[in-house]
Amino acid sequence: MKVGFVGAGKVGCSLGKLFNECQHNLLGYYSRTSSSAMEAADFTNSNYFQDLETLIKDSDTVFITVPDDAIGAVWEQIKHISIAGKMICHCSGSLSSEIFKDIEETGAFGFSVHPLLAVSDRYTSYQELPKALFTIEGNENHLDEIQDLLESCDLKVTRISADVKTRYHGAAVLCSNLVVALVQAAQDELRKCGFSDSDLSDAIAPLLLGNVNKVLSVGTAGALTGPIERNDFGTVEKHLSTFDGIDKDVYKVLSRKTLEVAELKHPEADYRALEQLLSS
Ligand SMILES: NC(=O)c1ccc[n+]([C@@H]2O[C@H](COP(=O)([O-])OP(=O)(O)OC[C@H]3O[C@@H](n4cnc5c(N)ncnc54)[C@H](OP(=O)(O)O)[C@@H]3O)[C@@H](O)[C@H]2O)c1
Repeated sequence: MKVGFVGAGKVGCSLGKLFNECQHNLLGYYSRTSSSAMEAADFTNSNYFQDLETLIKDSDTVFITVPDDAIGAVWEQIKHISIAGKMICHCSGSLSSEIFKDIEETGAFGFSVHPLLAVSDRYTSYQELPKALFTIEGNENHLDEIQDLLESCDLKVTRISADVKTRYHGAAVLCSNLVVALVQAAQDELRKCGFSDSDLSDAIAPLLLGNVNKVLSVGTAGALTGPIERNDFGTVEKHLSTFDGIDKDVYKVLSRKTLEVAELKHPEADYRALEQLLSS
């Protein structure tokens, strides 16, 4: 399989590097900026393509690793090239292969291939990719070939339905980007309590890491502690009186979700007063 990349950014470089390391026939890169494609080719020991058409013609499998908003425009360019029999993939988490409109008329096969990982760097993130789960969907007759391509690099793969991609991506945002926001809110409050920037990481590390590890080992109900679970109305009321603005909203909304977990864990408990406080 000769693999070409359109878009020489973080995901393009990382996936290309892995393909190169596991002996796939990595052809090379075309990108908006020629220097990006040259650097990616250098990094992955592959080729730089000056024009899109040559890359597409020489590849059997094309990964479109441009930002989500640019995938449609790249597809508009590619679909006018002779692409019958080729596999066309994008790596968006929220979009499905349905973005490749009219693909049946071209004779090519469309897929989405998404690594569930924050890929933050062009040159080092490839080392993290083997830990990630890849979700794939697309042309049913050829999905096995995409799965084989990834599994032969020891990547973990699962199939997903096209119609849940946006919901699935929202879930991924909840446990990655929104955790960043939650930590920001906690740090803002701790600064108001007099913590210095240099103390913040040490102060929150055992809480943050301890909770993540516990949730992953025993599940959300088993890991839950604190005033909501204890039905400690007075403490929650006092917390609400200290927070302002958006941090108060964050606290209230997430406490309502926490109540759902507490209710599952303690079906005998009467959490109605807390529910009312948090909904007011
Ligand atoms: N980063 C993540 O954490 C992550 C995780 C999973 C999936 N994804 C998905 O992976 C895809 C790529 O994301 P990324 O983070 O790798 O983005 P990125 O680092 O911004 O890289 C995008 C690359 O595409 C090039 N490009 C932009 N428009 C183009 C066009 N019209 N034609 C050709 N090349 C173009 C860019 O420009 P230059 O040529 O100017 O450099 C850049 O090199 C997205 O669909 C994203 O949703 C990202």
